[in-house]
Amino acid sequence: MKPAQPRKKKRRKMPYEKWMESIGIPIYEGHHVADLKSIDLGWWDDRQVHAAFLHLKGMEGVSEARIVELPPGKAIPPMKMPIGELVYVLEGQGLTAVWNERGGERRTFEWDEKSLFHLPRHLHHQIYNASGDRPARLLHYNYLPVAMSVVPDPDFFFNNPYQGGPLLRDDDELYSEPQEIRDDRENAPAIGVYWIGNFFPDLGHWDRLNAFRDRGAGGTAIFMRFPDAEMGAHMSVFSPGLYKKGHRHGPGRVIVIPAGEGFSLLWKKGGEKIVCPWREATVFVPPEDWYHQHFNTGTTAARYLALGPLPQFRGKGETLADRAERQIEYPDEDAYIRRKFEEECEKNGHKSQMPHECYENRDYRWTYGDEGD
Ligand SMILES: [Fe+2]
Repeated sequence: MKPAQPRKKKRRKMPYEKWMESIGIPIYEGHHVADLKSIDLGWWDDRQVHAAFLHLKGMEGVSEARIVELPPGKAIPPMKMPIGELVYVLEGQGLTAVWNERGGERRTFEWDEKSLFHLPRHLHHQIYNASGDRPARLLHYNYLPVAMSVVPDPDFFFNNPYQGGPLLRDDDELYSEPQEIRDDRENAPAIGVYWIGNFFPDLGHWDRLNAFRDRGAGGTAIFMRFPDAEMGAHMSVFSPGLYKKGHRHGPGRVIVIPAGEGFSLLWKKGGEKIVCPWREATVFVPPEDWYHQHFNTGTTAARYLALGPLPQFRGKGETLADRAERQIEYPDEDAYIRRKFEEECEKNGHKSQMPHECYENRDYRWTYGDEGD
């Protein structure tokens, strides 16, 4: 008699997933979406927008991402939430007003394509499309799946009379220029510097970047934080013909491309490698503890913006003790990686610019032009 096969149990739906499905707009699943600017959306009457949810593998229970399109000249009805939210502008131009019902000033700021802004918790906000003939398409990101697992009542999030949040004063700098902060403490960003602010203009051209030495490819980055919030994001920039080191960490990071052309590989340790080709407005998510690696096969610098999960989901850092488990150095990588990259470069009519030495010297030092080496 054969032993009984263990039955694979289907996971129970989380409160956030039930709510998301109840809205009746498209839900995109899988590992990546090629072009957020052209995917089909559905009408969300309560919010007076066309919208869709992204529920990619690795986001479940950790982060929400939704695409929202405002018709030309229209505004989303005002709303407030007890959790903060990040908004990245895929296309269009507009205005956002924020205010506190307890008093203080009303603050309005303008945004444009590739801006990133933070909507602080408990503040009312209203988003306007400033163009009379073009829609505006936005990517919203927050931690609603975690919050709804604790309080599974949608009204608590979308119709909550609690009054909190900062009172906006005439002289505050809520949406002024972000500030650069040096941080050498433990848990500081890998590059020792972060920028804090509620509004980051045009990430397609942001050039105040610092060397991201750990991840190879001579790459630079900006790590972003948002005042009085646990949210975090970073954007990496790297040159054509190069690729970063494979690495892995926790779930829930939603990666969107502001500029460039290339591909990323995603794979579970020992598993098949999934290819995600990307260009501007592609989105993908590395699932929890899956290795992933980013390749620039285009002719211009590539930029990827990673909207990060709560700190408790970031996964283990690359400590010296387990570094080889978290990051794959070039000399240790599967031969497929280099071959695949060189083939893809050739298809685009150019060659890999990876220095031969980086495949032999684990301590190879990339040149950043800032230390004379
Ligand atoms: Fe990563």
